[in-house]
Amino acid sequence: MERLKVGVLASGRGSNFQAIIDSAESGYLNIEIAILITDNPAAFAIDRAKKHGISYLVVTPEQFSSKDAYFSHISSELQKLKVGLVVLAGFMRIIGKPLIKAFRNKILNIHPALLPAFPGLHSQKQAIDHGVKISGCTVHFVDEGMDTGPIIVQAAVPVKDADSEDTLSERILKFEHKIFPQAIKLFSEGRLEVISNKVQIKGILFDDKAITNPPLS
Ligand code: GRF
Repeated sequence: MERLKVGVLASGRGSNFQAIIDSAESGYLNIEIAILITDNPAAFAIDRAKKHGISYLVVTPEQFSSKDAYFSHISSELQKLKVGLVVLAGFMRIIGKPLIKAFRNKILNIHPALLPAFPGLHSQKQAIDHGVKISGCTVHFVDEGMDTGPIIVQAAVPVKDADSEDTLSERILKFEHKIFPQAIKLFSEGRLEVISNKVQIKGILFDDKAITNPPLS
């Protein structure tokens, strides 16, 4: 079977991109990373692409007359390469309709909170400010809304009284690097089905383990 071609969009340091590269190189993921597309010529993600021999494109919105034109261009670049899955690994823009339409239920995003709580920017700070005891991260399909698409995988971590935005972000990030490759694997194996905005996963044995914070005493 031909390997799934994945296009990655990233704007910054690209630690999630790195987790995906590592998962592909170790054989956990049977995918080909066809391209990195970035809107930021200074993104560290570019260095990671170069180091691993992955092609990349810098495409900035200023080169286009409208947001639709920008995302149509990205979409056609991905289609040219026969990309079957688009992964947003810290891509700091709201995705335009032309890309969503061309890749309906084929775009994954990672968000550093347990959606639908704390969508948008600075989710870790939002979680701390709200005083939640458990937060985490979510991989979801991208739709027209802001972090509203069907949820695929979530991981929960405790929020501690002494947490700062940075310490909580770091705790969550470790799990981002685990569940993003997991979700890509489930997608690449054809195990995700979206039924009325909910994702059903084929062949999963769910368990009843829960985390409580503070721990039960
Ligand atoms: C991550 O926290 C991700 O959840 C959010 O943006 C951040 C990107 O980090 N969408 P990195 O560039 O993958 O290191």
